[in-house]
Amino acid sequence: MDIKYSGPVCEFETAEPCGIVIFGASGDLTKRKLLPALFELYKRSRIPSKFFITGVARSGLNDGSFRELVASAIEKVAEKSSDRKKAEFLDRCFYVSGQYDDPDTYKKLKSLNEKLSRKFKTDSNIIFNIATPPSLYGIIVKKLSEAKLVKKGQNNTPFQRVIVEKPFGRDFNSAVALNKELLSYLDDEQIYRIDHYLGKDTVQNILAFRFANLIFENVWNRNFIDHVQITVSEELGVGHRAGYFDNSGLVRDMLQNHMLQLLALVAMEPPSKFDAELIRDEKVKVMKAIRPFKDISSPSTIIRGQYKEGAIKGEQVKSYRDEDGVSKNSSTETFVATRLFIDNVRWEGVPFYMRAGKALKEKKTQITIVFKEVPHSMFVKDIKENPLEPNVLIFGIQPEQGVFLKYQAKAPGSKMCLYPLDMDFNYADVYGSELSDDYETLLLDCMIGDQTLFWSKKGVEVSWDLITPILREWDKSSFDDKKIKLFFYEAGTWGPDEADDFIKNDGRKWIVK
Ligand code: BG6
Repeated sequence: MDIKYSGPVCEFETAEPCGIVIFGASGDLTKRKLLPALFELYKRSRIPSKFFITGVARSGLNDGSFRELVASAIEKVAEKSSDRKKAEFLDRCFYVSGQYDDPDTYKKLKSLNEKLSRKFKTDSNIIFNIATPPSLYGIIVKKLSEAKLVKKGQNNTPFQRVIVEKPFGRDFNSAVALNKELLSYLDDEQIYRIDHYLGKDTVQNILAFRFANLIFENVWNRNFIDHVQITVSEELGVGHRAGYFDNSGLVRDMLQNHMLQLLALVAMEPPSKFDAELIRDEKVKVMKAIRPFKDISSPSTIIRGQYKEGAIKGEQVKSYRDEDGVSKNSSTETFVATRLFIDNVRWEGVPFYMRAGKALKEKKTQITIVFKEVPHSMFVKDIKENPLEPNVLIFGIQPEQGVFLKYQAKAPGSKMCLYPLDMDFNYADVYGSELSDDYETLLLDCMIGDQTLFWSKKGVEVSWDLITPILREWDKSSFDDKKIKLFFYEAGTWGPDEADDFIKNDGRKWIVK
C-alpha cells in the first residue's frame, strides 16, 4: 500500500521529575532493556533533567563501576548522541551494594535517595523497579515498607510506585499470595505489573484497529470469523537463561502472560472510554469467559514439545537437554500448541489456536484472523467443490510490523480469473523506523501514572487460574511418563509434527505471513 504519512506522530507525554531505583541493577534485564530505554527517554527529553537512577544489587560495585556498566549498556542506543547528553545521563547514575533482605541496604538507599532528591529536585517522587529473581519481590517490598521508603496511599505528590517484572507468581496460588503480600504494603494503584508485550505499538494497534474503524467491528464475531491463530515463535533457544527457564517452561513464560494478553485484545468488548480501569476490566471479563481446560493429558487438548539439536539459519543448535544448566532428563516444554474457546455470545464456537516455541524456524509474532468462506459464489460452479480462499487478516507484531489483509481480486486477462492478493500496511513504510520501544513506553507510563498497559491484580489471577490445571498435570509427570507425551522437534523447524496435526485434525492449517 503506498501511503506516505504526513501528519504529526503522536507525541509522548513528559514524565514528572522523579528518581528511579532499580533492584537487580547488575542483571541482564537492566542492561538489555531498562538502561537503554531510560537513556532513550532522557535523550528525547521525555524524562526531565530532574531525574536520577539508583542501582541496587548484591554485586560489589560503586558509583564509578556502575557508571561503566551503564555506559556499556547504553552504548548502542547512545551511538549518535552527543557526549554531553551521555555524560549528563551517567552523572545521574548511583549505586547501592547490599543484600536484599538486609535492613542496612535500605538505610543506605533511603539516605542516598533523600540526598539525590534534593540535588536533582525530584520532589521526592520515586519509582522502585524490581528486576530481580521473582522469589525476591515480596521481601524487597516488605523491606522498602519497613524502611519507610514506600507507604500506602502514596500514588501522588510525592508518588511512590513499584514496578514488578514478570513472572508474577508461578501458578494461581502463588500469584494470589504475591498480590496479597504486595497489597499489604502498597495500594493497587502503586503497583505496576509489567507485560512488555503491551508496550509494543503493534500490540496497542489492535485496539485502535478494532475500535477506531467502523468497518471491522461488524464482522468481528462468530458469524464471520472462522478461527483465530496466535503464533509467537522465537529462533533463540534458552541460552544463558536455563536456570530460570528449566524451572518454568513455555506455558509459564509465554502462554500465561503475553499470549493471553494478545488474545484478550483481539477478543474483548469495547469499553465506553479509553480508560485504564475499564480496559483492564474488559480483558478480565473475556479471560474469565475462556473455557477451562479439560483432559489435559490428551494431545488433542494441548501439545507440549521440546527441541532437539538442529540448525537455525545455518547455525548448529544443541538440544535443549544439552544446554548449560538444563537437567539431562528435563521434561520442561520449549513449545506449546493449544486451542481455546471463549464462551460468550461474540465468540461461541470460534477456536483460538495458540502456539509458541523456542529454537523455531524464525522469530515471528503474528495474530491471524481467518474469516469464513463465502457461502455462495457466482465465480465458481460449486463452492463446496471449488472453495475460494477466505479473507485472512494478519496483525504483524514482530518482526513484520503492520496489518495485512488477504482478499480475492481479478487477475489481469480476458477471463474472469480470481487470485488472492495482499493489502499490506507496514509501519516502517509509513513511519520509518520510529516505532517506540516497549520498555520506553512502559517506564514512561509508570512515571506518568498510567496503568492501562499493565496487568491488573484480577487479570493476573484470572490468567493463572486458567493455566494452573495444565501446570499441575505436567509438573507431576516426568519425561518418561507415557501418559502425557512430550513431543520432540528439531531446532529450526516449526515445532513437532503433532502441532501441525493438531490443527489439521480440525480441517485447518497454521498461517503466518
Ligand atoms: C519474555 C520471555 O517475557 O519474552 C522470554 O521471558 C522471551 O523467554 C521474550 O524470549 C520474548 O520477547 P520479545 O519481545 O522478544 O518477543
